Amino acid sequence: MQRLKGFREFFPEPLPPGEEWSCDLRQYIFDCWRRTARRYGFREYDGPPVEPLSLYTAKSGDEIVSQLFNFLDKGQDAVSLRPEMTPTVARMVAAAERAYRKPIKWFSMPQLFRYEAPQKGRLREHFQFNCDLFGEEDPAADAEVVALLIDVLRALGLTEEDFVVRLSSRKAWQAFYEAEGGKPEAASEFFQAVDKMEREDPGTLARRLAPTGVTAEAVAQFIDAGLPTPELQGILDNLTARGLGAYVKIDYGVIRGLAYYTGVVFEAFDRKGEFRAIAGGGRYDNLVSVLSGGKVKLPALGFGMGDVVLALLLRKRGKVPSFASTIDVMVLVEDETLRVDSLALVQRLRESGKAVDYSLTPMKADKQFKRALEMGAAHWARLERGPEGVILRVKDLRSRTEQVGTPDSAASLV
Ligand code: HAM
Repeated sequence: MQRLKGFREFFPEPLPPGEEWSCDLRQYIFDCWRRTARRYGFREYDGPPVEPLSLYTAKSGDEIVSQLFNFLDKGQDAVSLRPEMTPTVARMVAAAERAYRKPIKWFSMPQLFRYEAPQKGRLREHFQFNCDLFGEEDPAADAEVVALLIDVLRALGLTEEDFVVRLSSRKAWQAFYEAEGGKPEAASEFFQAVDKMEREDPGTLARRLAPTGVTAEAVAQFIDAGLPTPELQGILDNLTARGLGAYVKIDYGVIRGLAYYTGVVFEAFDRKGEFRAIAGGGRYDNLVSVLSGGKVKLPALGFGMGDVVLALLLRKRGKVPSFASTIDVMVLVEDETLRVDSLALVQRLRESGKAVDYSLTPMKADKQFKRALEMGAAHWARLERGPEGVILRVKDLRSRTEQVGTPDSAASLV
């Protein structure tokens, strides 16, 4: 039985031959995501992994809709595995915003599913760190969210030489489109053409642009000029004040594929351009209103960062730490008549919070010792019969020092 194409199995390290996804690395990334979000005062939330199909069909845009993992459930309801978190969080906020002070700053780390052609950096499932902020329209909020994105990558050891956040604006593009006499009814085709531009050849771009009335030359000139709008300049200044200016640049080549963005948009890329986007996001000031049938109006913005490109990039740049065993103590049972006492010792150590292992069945002493070394145990502990009863011997395998005590003193000796 093979796993499905585009899905991963995460193994504990060291990885078996031919496998590339490490559960240790995944946990390392999750810890960093969570820690950094908390440093910025974001609170964790989660939502359902299966949603009504209609949550996505009208709001997310054609590309993601064509990639949905959707089906009819046994009650004949049209449902989908979640391909992204934004519609879910917008719905949650619309329903519960009165219970929270503004701005609402929330994060989540959902596993998402998209039925797309698996390729380097793009699979059919991924974990995505989502950070979103609701209830603030000032660009100070955009700067805060971009700063958080930058700090997550810095916390993972990446520097301004490794990645850059490309900042753009749908409003700037809209103003350009109008100034160029673009046809209002073809605006969404125009945005899609620009979004795909970097991944397609010039002929396809010209064909896509034809119905819009805007030329590829005008588009290229607008991108080359890269003049920041006052809003984008404000974000640049804000980030520069934090010492993070080197991590961002204005780049109108970014426009974002998803339909709900309304203002500033951004994507993080590796500087060498070897990988697909590390993260992407922007402002979506109308989505909460759309999902609440116009009842709640709250400006919103945020980003999503996947674990796939991130893991590939960290490996490529040598930023993955080595994941040592997490065993604190290996209890050696050399005298089988002391197995009952040894089990009590194992339990006592575990209750004191130590990670403890031991041989479940009788095993030669030297094999148990070898096992302790293989597992990278920090200590071994062993019970022995002495003239005055059972004694405990604990060895620190790093400092090579040995201590002797009573079995009761175990927790204080390791
Ligand atoms: P997105 O650009 O579709 O945005 O995805 C964000 C990030 O998730 C991408 O930059 C990439 O790292 C990762 N990602 C997306 N699809 C895949 C895939 N098939 N395989 C591996 N990684 C993938 C969104 O999803 C927006 N909802 C983000 C957002 C949050 N905007 C505002 N708030």
